Amino acid sequence: MDTLASYDELPYDSLPLPETQPDFLAAVARLHGFDAPDPMRARILELGCAQGGNLIPLAWRWPQSECVGVELSRVQAERGTPFIQQLGLSNVHIQHGDLADLPGDLGTFDYIIAHGVYSWVPLPVQQALLDVCRRHLSSQGIAYVSFNVTAGWALLQPLRIALIERTAANLPAPARYQQALRVLNELEAEWTDPVLRKEITFLKTAAPSYLFHEYLADFNTPISFGEFAKQLESHDLRYLGEAGPRHAVVELEDAWGLTPEGMAGRWQDAESALDEAHAIRFRRALIARADAPCAQPPQAEALSLLTFYADLQSDDEIDLENASEQHFTNPAGNAIPVAQPVMKAAVMALSTAYPDALTYPDLLTAARQVMAEYGVSNPVDETLFRNALFQLVAAHGVMPCISTGSAAGSLGEYPCAQTLARLQARSPGWVVSGLRHTTLDLDAPARKLLRFLDGNRTIDELAPLMQATLAEMGVEQSLEHVSERTNQQLWLFARQGLLVK
Ligand SMILES: C[S@@+](CC[C@H](N)C(=O)[O-])C[C@H]1O[C@@H](n2cnc3c(N)ncnc32)[C@H](O)[C@@H]1O
Repeated sequence: MDTLASYDELPYDSLPLPETQPDFLAAVARLHGFDAPDPMRARILELGCAQGGNLIPLAWRWPQSECVGVELSRVQAERGTPFIQQLGLSNVHIQHGDLADLPGDLGTFDYIIAHGVYSWVPLPVQQALLDVCRRHLSSQGIAYVSFNVTAGWALLQPLRIALIERTAANLPAPARYQQALRVLNELEAEWTDPVLRKEITFLKTAAPSYLFHEYLADFNTPISFGEFAKQLESHDLRYLGEAGPRHAVVELEDAWGLTPEGMAGRWQDAESALDEAHAIRFRRALIARADAPCAQPPQAEALSLLTFYADLQSDDEIDLENASEQHFTNPAGNAIPVAQPVMKAAVMALSTAYPDALTYPDLLTAARQVMAEYGVSNPVDETLFRNALFQLVAAHGVMPCISTGSAAGSLGEYPCAQTLARLQARSPGWVVSGLRHTTLDLDAPARKLLRFLDGNRTIDELAPLMQATLAEMGVEQSLEHVSERTNQQLWLFARQGLLVK
């Protein structure tokens, strides 16, 4: 096949995916007792990489890495190449082609990423994808393969069937999407099932490419975790752990005397049961070669080997005296409950340090300091701290990684934005990504401001420029107001690591 027409017609929103960052994957692997390769010098392969919205920022961040993307949709693959050239990056390229037909001389990779591909391709391509992992993973390498799970998708199938039946398969993808929106309104009036109604509400404002490729595309084949694990086995691969946020984590009791393989078997059974109990829809599986050391369920003790960052917000006054549950919102918009005072203090310390990460001992010390500053004298129990941190890491309230070093940029006298951020800001169809590989929701004026940050203008010079820019957009505002907004926006850029140090 030369290209994939549906993705040419309706390209996927190609975004940075925080769960695929190799330094995060390496940290998750360590929690499972598995030693992964150094992400900064890794060879990284992304299958079905779209235009490179995920891969290119990774290559930018780690100039010593070597990144290869493979994408079957010609339109998407060809969008990535000029972007890479404008950045002047020589450590990344996007290859237009079929992942099932890769050249044999690609070599081995420390990280292989396939997000949103496995369930959305025909069976032979699924097999080919796992085959690529088997052939191209380095000895301690990790593959990330996400897929739709039968347990949760069983509830959504009536919606997919109705949308396929009530829209015309021969229409171009954008026109069929418009038809699907009308069908959603009809179904909303007809259906009472709360799960389906919630999904309809979500789909009405979801990205068109998401609705189309999830609900109208030819392939969306959910699979159970147990069946997926069997597929891995038949490709000489093994399950290593989960990279997605989790609300429940398997803990094996009475595992004494079991061989690592015996324990892995029990663990996989428990993972399947978890999917059924929680109607799980989507998994982000980490995979290793079958001849790599056997992994185990995640261990809280391994947290002491890692570093952590978090960008959590709360509108509440934080209660550091009592173990009362309070909610913090993470960049993905999920509300994360935190009850232990020491963990609330840790979250406050991490939010102050963001985008920098703190080592485990530094985080514990910082949490103790926050408690002391607020006059709370309760002694900090480290076991309590570690278990609470373990839960937050599982839920992706706090992200673990293995790299240290300062990530923060500064405003300085002449604020200067990273080349990547400036290019993303002036390129339609590209989102601006934060240093922690998040999508930043920037409006048109904020994107304009980023483009002005070439290090040649003082903050005082930027304000009148922004005032004139806003006037061109039809927005008249006082210089004082624009100046204040510009300053706020610059601090937000600094917080997301967009400014040069
Ligand atoms: C649902 S999109 C996901 C895109 C991207 N990985 C992400 O998560 O944003 C699936 C991608 O896989 C690509 N794809 C499908 N079959 C492929 C194949 N056989 N070889 C390479 N890419 C393929 C599609 O063109 C599309 O860009």
